[in-house]
Amino acid sequence: MNTQPIRPALVEIRDGVPFAPAFGDVYHTRAGALAQARHVFLQGNDLPQRWAGRSDFTIVETGFGLGNNFLATWAAWRADVQRCERLHFVSIEKHPLTRDDLARVLADHPLDELAETLLAQWPPLTPNLHRLDFDGGQVRLTLAFGDVAALLPELRLRADALYLDGFAPDRNPEMWSERLMATLGRLAAPGATAATWSTSRAVRDGLTQAGFVVERAPGFGGKREMTVARFAPRHTPALPAADAPAVAGSRHAVVLGAGLAGASVARGLAALGWSCELIDRQAHPAAEASGNPGGLFHGIVLPDDGAHARLHRAAALRLQQVLSGLRGRHPIAGGFTGLLRADEGPVASMQAVLDRQGLPPDYVQALDTPQAEGLSELPLGRPAWFFPGGGWLRPSDLVQALLTDAGDAVRWRGGLDIRSLVRVADEWVLMTANGAVAARAEVVVLANAFDAHALLPQGPWPLQRVRGQITRLPATLPGLALPRLPVAAGGYLLPAHEGMSLCGATSQPGDEDPTLRASDHGHNLAQLARLGVSSPAVDPSTLDGRVGWRAVTPDRLPLIGPVPDTGALPVLGRRITQPRHLPRLPGLHVCTGLGSRGITWSVLAGEITAAWIAGQACPVEGGLRDAVDVGRFLSRAARHGRSA
Ligand SMILES: Cc1cc2nc3c(=O)[nH]c(=O)nc-3n(C[C@H](O)[C@H](O)[C@H](O)COP(=O)(O)OP(=O)(O)OC[C@H]3O[C@@H](n4cnc5c(N)ncnc54)[C@H](O)[C@@H]3O)c2cc1C
Ligand SMILES: C[S@@+](CC[C@H](N)C(=O)[O-])C[C@H]1O[C@@H](n2cnc3c(N)ncnc32)[C@H](O)[C@@H]1O
Repeated sequence: MNTQPIRPALVEIRDGVPFAPAFGDVYHTRAGALAQARHVFLQGNDLPQRWAGRSDFTIVETGFGLGNNFLATWAAWRADVQRCERLHFVSIEKHPLTRDDLARVLADHPLDELAETLLAQWPPLTPNLHRLDFDGGQVRLTLAFGDVAALLPELRLRADALYLDGFAPDRNPEMWSERLMATLGRLAAPGATAATWSTSRAVRDGLTQAGFVVERAPGFGGKREMTVARFAPRHTPALPAADAPAVAGSRHAVVLGAGLAGASVARGLAALGWSCELIDRQAHPAAEASGNPGGLFHGIVLPDDGAHARLHRAAALRLQQVLSGLRGRHPIAGGFTGLLRADEGPVASMQAVLDRQGLPPDYVQALDTPQAEGLSELPLGRPAWFFPGGGWLRPSDLVQALLTDAGDAVRWRGGLDIRSLVRVADEWVLMTANGAVAARAEVVVLANAFDAHALLPQGPWPLQRVRGQITRLPATLPGLALPRLPVAAGGYLLPAHEGMSLCGATSQPGDEDPTLRASDHGHNLAQLARLGVSSPAVDPSTLDGRVGWRAVTPDRLPLIGPVPDTGALPVLGRRITQPRHLPRLPGLHVCTGLGSRGITWSVLAGEITAAWIAGQACPVEGGLRDAVDVGRFLSRAARHGRSA
């Protein structure tokens, strides 16, 4: 998928109605946005009746615009005593409004409390998907910023209702194309409905061809009629194997590993109404890699905006959203006011990359040397990327906050070292070294970092253990200059916290030595030179630190998703070159390979895993899910005509 920069909308108010000069059309009828939303989109889809008593209900909208349809739907959900447990609202928008413009057009909104809550979470205008949670996560808004033609096929979800709300078809034909309607048909759940104010022939024909039964209904605001439709295809195509509905009517899972990955999966599942047992060999969570006293989180800018850049961006922005909620409820040690990543520059080239990709300053800024030095208070001697939403935190605090937030949905079971995993009837059974059954469930998630790979029923994955040592530095060490914000450039240095700082880290593949080494402290101190910091006068053997291991994949992206059934591949007798079509082992998922980025990636990785298990809307675009899919090495090998 080629990412296009986001160009925000220009909205004028003409005769009291918001107007888009670029399209020559109004955002809603003069008769009122909310009344139109209720008549055309809610009533047109038989809402709220159709979500009554459901656990989850998913609405897909083409054209988020000013958010009126979303606000009206959210208000109707709040007012409905029979409402579904969770409302998923997914909306695609090519030209989102800047926060200031949205605030301007939503000022004095009749649903002022909801409008203000939406504004408070309005994300930076970066391309692709953004997840916003409201009402304790029961209302989940997924905003997909980009062109509908590119993004609609990238959604991984089953839609129960469709709101078709582009500008008028003659001014905005790409929002009503036959191809778009066909894609809607592929996303529609059995019995899904669609509604639009348009009665254009092309729209009705497109819906019909996509498998909808189309009818006319009384229109709104001077329009005699509108279009409503129900999905009733003659043939229902089979879902790609990786998207097959989840097993487990019980909505219960066993999650193995209580580091950042496992805690994030547990929280992700709890948010979708699942319970889990969280098992770890250690006596308390976050005792292995996730037990470091501090680490960085931030986005990244890469010239190609490929999978790495997109995953980092989506994950960093999601972490920022989640942290802003968690930090109000749980103590998390850290610094949350931004992070600097020094660069060789020149700053003009850095700025050119931002301009080409259209990345906004609330996500990242290119700072020249004086600006970077001013912000960090270090003599960096180089320009830097500034990520305002980045920072540092203590991972064990994040793990604890994620678990506390998940509440009773998570049952913690420490001190259980799992040595084997076998399939018995419809369940996966986890056993300890003496063969005792520790737990069993239809759904198991291996979130136990490198060791996940030893438990696989069908052979190992490409995963490597990479040792790392960090160094703790007393803030008062003579000659030590500390930054005001965390600063990275190869190595990194954190600001002082409770009299200590931290720098690191080494990267030693295949090194299994658990002892702290003075030579590694020496390496970490030497790296400080790249940040303009001279090594403090200290004997490295007197310093404290910590050793841990990262689980790293060859392409440096995580491993997420249902484990492929390699045993079924020869039976299928064909090469499967797309991960989505690989057969999977029922109910066995993985969330690992977080490498050196577990703090930034874990929350999103946990949500991708949970959405996959529960069969709910994936929080990232399909191409990105493919890029982190645990099956990707198999499908890549098939593409290149070799075994994985
Ligand atoms: C030195 C160093 C510095 C780092 N710095 C940063 C940084 O600045 N920013 C950043 O984002 N990331 C950083 N990381 C990476 C980050 O720490 C990891 O990506 C993250 O902690 C991985 O989380 P995890 O849950 O996958 O693994 P872990 O935290 O290791 O959790 C796995 C859990 O599984 C349990 N387990 C394993 N096997 C079994 C079994 N058979 N039975 C029962 N339990 C089992 C373990 O006890 C463990 O608790 C750093 C890592 C290191 C080593
Ligand atoms: C009628 S407005 C939507 C109003 C909105 N549903 C509301 O409740 O406020 C149509 C929207 O479609 C968006 N749009 C137009 N062309 C698009 C495209 N190709 N891809 C995605 N969005 C597009 C416009 O930017 C505009 O916001």
